[in-house]
Formats: sequence, structure tokens, C-alpha cells
Amino acid sequence: MTKLFYLNTPFSIKNLSVKNRIVMPPMCQYQAKDGMPNDWHFVHYVSRAVGGVGLIIVEMTNVAPNGRISPNCLGLWNDQQRDKFKHIVDAVHAQNAKIAIQIGHAGRKALGTDDVVAPSAIKYDGANEAGERWQYQTPRELTQHEISIIIQQFKQSVQRAIEAGFDSIELHAAHGYLIHQFSSPKSNLRTDEYGQDRFLFGEQVIKAAKSVMPADMPLIVRISAQEYGENGFDAKYGCKMAKRFAAAGADILHVSGGGDGHLSASHTPPFHAGYQVYLARAVKQATQLPVIAVGMLDDHYLADFVLSTGDADLIAVGRGLLRDPYWVLHTPASAALSPFIPSSYACAFD
Ligand SMILES: Cc1cc2nc3c(=O)[nH]c(=O)nc-3n(C[C@H](O)[C@H](O)[C@H](O)COP(=O)(O)O)c2cc1C
Repeated sequence: MTKLFYLNTPFSIKNLSVKNRIVMPPMCQYQAKDGMPNDWHFVHYVSRAVGGVGLIIVEMTNVAPNGRISPNCLGLWNDQQRDKFKHIVDAVHAQNAKIAIQIGHAGRKALGTDDVVAPSAIKYDGANEAGERWQYQTPRELTQHEISIIIQQFKQSVQRAIEAGFDSIELHAAHGYLIHQFSSPKSNLRTDEYGQDRFLFGEQVIKAAKSVMPADMPLIVRISAQEYGENGFDAKYGCKMAKRFAAAGADILHVSGGGDGHLSASHTPPFHAGYQVYLARAVKQATQLPVIAVGMLDDHYLADFVLSTGDADLIAVGRGLLRDPYWVLHTPASAALSPFIPSSYACAFD
């Protein structure tokens, strides 16, 4: 049987040590009320920890109520939310897994609020993560004062995440949400400093996050390294952005794409296995930072191969882990997995 060489090797950066190379990427569950994590989130995340995932990244968790993709999304704008997250974090740690949280703001892609804000008053025209078309509102252009408040909200959410015990923070700068909106020439038509320098907002959020993070805790930044819609920016622009975010303090880049608008036959990624690996490779070469590759990598051998090429340091498996919380334990070369099998289940893997 073909052997897996890389998938089950440990990875470490700063004080984050991950037992294997498998990351559960953030995936919204739309199960929260008032932004609070509940039993659904507990079972959902802890079962992936039992299933051997090395690093779990909690779904997009928002810095303010009007920053949510839906009214059922998670938030981290109060201490009650923080305390509920701590319960999940402690249970994940008990399974010898690491856990990060994706902190974000939906900007013009917010739903269920009357106060939709963005860099410019340009309505989003596109599908959500699940491919459904929604009626988005025309956002209100943020004032500079409001921008500074949102940066503070990011900082406070990061602070609460650290208090809850998370091992790392991921900032959501991808998929057409607020940081991406500032970075994109399509959604940022401002004439002030945030328009003259479209990466400034992202840079300021990164610096604000880092200012409250322990020096030895790595910061992950998720980017869309390329836009897929019409008139979207290319990977060269994405790499320029990645370099800027790296200089601002990102320690790991989680390299995704798109989210900038609806896809048409002439503007769509090919959606083949590993279709975004070339973006991970380009960003890694441009920044020399470790990268997480994502996108249809739920074949164990393919994931191992991508690691072997050096194109990525970690592999995110999204829908594969929704289908199978034990995706890691179902690795074909099962012997290599024995350290990750919970002792209570060992007899089933003999
Ligand atoms: C149900 C669902 C929810 C998602 N929510 C988020 C999210 O909260 N934040 C994010 O950055 N990406 C989100 N994504 C994108 C995934 O993290 C991942 O990039 C995508 O599913 C591609 O990986 P895959 O082919 O392994 O599924 C979501 C995807 C799915 C399927």
C-alpha cells in the first residue's frame, strides 16, 4: 500500500505545536443565537478533535452584531460568549488538539441587520458560501471614526479569544468580507487614505490583533489570493497583499480565493482537486511564510503529495470533515495514525 509520509508529521511555529498537518478550516454553522456558542458547536468541534484533527479553526466569529453573515452566526463581543467558547476550547485541548478562531466582520455581506457598512456604498452582487443568491443591502460608507471603532472591536474580540484559551487567532481577510472589501479595487472606491492604500485597513487590524496577542502566539491571516468574479484582482495582486500582511505581523497565511462576486461561466475557478494549491505556492514563495492550502484536498494521498512538494505546510479539509468527522482516522495507511486514535476506540482499529 502507498505510504503517507507528511500528513501525520508534527508542525510547529512559535508556541503552537500541532500533532499533524490537518486543519479543519472555518465553516459557518448558522446555529448560534445572539452570537452564543451552544451544544451544537460543542459537539461539532469536539468530535473533530476526537477524530484526530491537528488544528481546528472555529467558524467566522464576528466582532459586532452588524458584522454577521446571518443572525445565526457566532460573535465574540461580550464576556458571556467568551465563557461559552472556553468550554469548547478546554474540551478540544483534552483531546490533544489545537484550536484557533476566525475573527471577522461581514461588512457589506452582512444579513439580518439594518446597519450594513462597507468601505464604499457598493452593493454586493453574488452568492453566499453555500452558493445561494441572497438579497444584499446597499451598504453605508464607513466614516474614518467608524473604521477606528471597528479596528478596536477586532482587538477586543481577539483579546476575549485569548482569554478563552485559544491557541491561535485567524483574521478573516478573505471571501469578500470586510477586510477583503477594503483590499479590493472593486469594493473600495474611497478617496481617503483607506482608498489610496487599500491594504491599510487590513494592516491596522493585524497590528491591533498582534498588540493584544502574546508574542509567542502565531497569527493566521486568511486571504483570497485571487478574486474569481469579473474584473477581479489576480494572484500577483494577491501576493502583494500577502507580503504587506506578512510585514504587518501575519505568521501563517491561509490561502483561499474568491468571494468577491457571483461566478459566471467565463469567471469561475475550475474546481478540480487541489484547485487553489497554485495560490498557496505563489503566496509561500512571495512571503516565505508557512501557508495552509485549501480547496478540494480531501483525498489523503493528494494532501500528502501537496505537502511533499513544499507548496503548503498544512492542509485544510473542509467539507471532507463535515462528511466524516473521523477523516483523519480513516487515513488509508492507518498504522501511521495510531497516535491519534482515542484509547477508548483503539480496539476498533486493530
Ligand atoms: C458550510 C460552509 C461554511 C463555510 N464557512 C466559512 C467561514 O466561516 N469562514 C471561511 O473563511 N470560510 C468558510 N467556508 C469555506 C471553507 O473554509 C473552505 O475554504 C471551503 O469549504 C473549501 O474547502 P473544501 O473544498 O475542503 O471544502 C465555508 C465552507 C462551507 C462548506
